Amino acid sequence: MTSTFSIGGDLEVSRLGYGAMQLPGPGVWGESLDPEGAVAVLRRAVELGVTLIDTADAYGPNVADLLIKQALHPYADDLVIATKVGFTRQGPGRWTAVGRPEYLRQQVELSLRHLGLERIDLLQLHRVDPEVPLADQIGELALLQQEGKIRHIGLSEVTVDEVEAAGEFATIASVQNRYNLTLRTSEPVLDHCTANGIAFIPYSPLAKGKLLEDGGPFDVLAARHGAGRSQLALAWLLKRSPVVLPIPGTASIAHLEDNLGARSVELADDEFASLSS
Ligand SMILES: NC(=O)c1ccc[n+]([C@@H]2O[C@H](COP(=O)([O-])OP(=O)(O)OC[C@H]3O[C@@H](n4cnc5c(N)ncnc54)[C@H](OP(=O)(O)O)[C@@H]3O)[C@@H](O)[C@H]2O)c1
Repeated sequence: MTSTFSIGGDLEVSRLGYGAMQLPGPGVWGESLDPEGAVAVLRRAVELGVTLIDTADAYGPNVADLLIKQALHPYADDLVIATKVGFTRQGPGRWTAVGRPEYLRQQVELSLRHLGLERIDLLQLHRVDPEVPLADQIGELALLQQEGKIRHIGLSEVTVDEVEAAGEFATIASVQNRYNLTLRTSEPVLDHCTANGIAFIPYSPLAKGKLLEDGGPFDVLAARHGAGRSQLALAWLLKRSPVVLPIPGTASIAHLEDNLGARSVELADDEFASLSS
């Protein structure tokens, strides 16, 4: 199994990344309940070889970005921070898409500031705003790319038609959709990404922890491999396609270490097939 993938053809990352959404307060709102622990998790992730960290301006808002900067700035040359704009927050657990170009530009500028970057390696449109023409949303990101503020552009929670439509206005380097063993509505998008060399970043790869409950789909194989359930869940994703870059989220160092153990778990073809059926 290939352990790395080049986003946009030139940004190599280790395929198993880390998602920072669990670091802000409950409902992804407000300050972390344990800021020192959050910083320690981020530092441990990088120590253990994570080179892809997923974040968003909406996480907190701004809380995850500021923790990343506090923990890791100045950044290692090989660290890719993938962020997202276009989702606004009205309180814990409340999210609303806003894709007006002037707002997207403001949030890219603020993301640069909060993360302490001169250029964002991967900027994903967090949600397509149905109230704003796609040409205006992607067009603004393409302008920011031409200005050198964004390296690669990606999308989140989109259909194949939307990936193709967005591709009229910019090269799409990644798609971040919800996807895990028990939620596979994005199969066509994943197949499209595989065929076109687009990174597919499955969010909620552990089904927000539900996949790890007793009696879940990984119990038998976990025992056979002497591995944890989360490792099996992530190994299944890593085997699904070479363009898949899972970003499991956790605020716990023990869980982080557990998850990264998936890099040394390899499912046999028949094991993968029986899980997938
Ligand atoms: N693009 C989007 O719209 C979107 C939406 C959602 C998420 N995301 C991104 O995707 C990332 C991952 O998604 P997610 O955080 O929603 O879900 P997830 O990674 O599927 O699961 C996270 C949950 O699982 C628990 N967990 C993680 N590792 C564990 C382990 N080894 N053992 C037991 N429990 C474990 C975490 O709790 P602990 O903290 O206690 O470990 C947390 O409650 C996010 O961090 C974010 O970066 C993107």
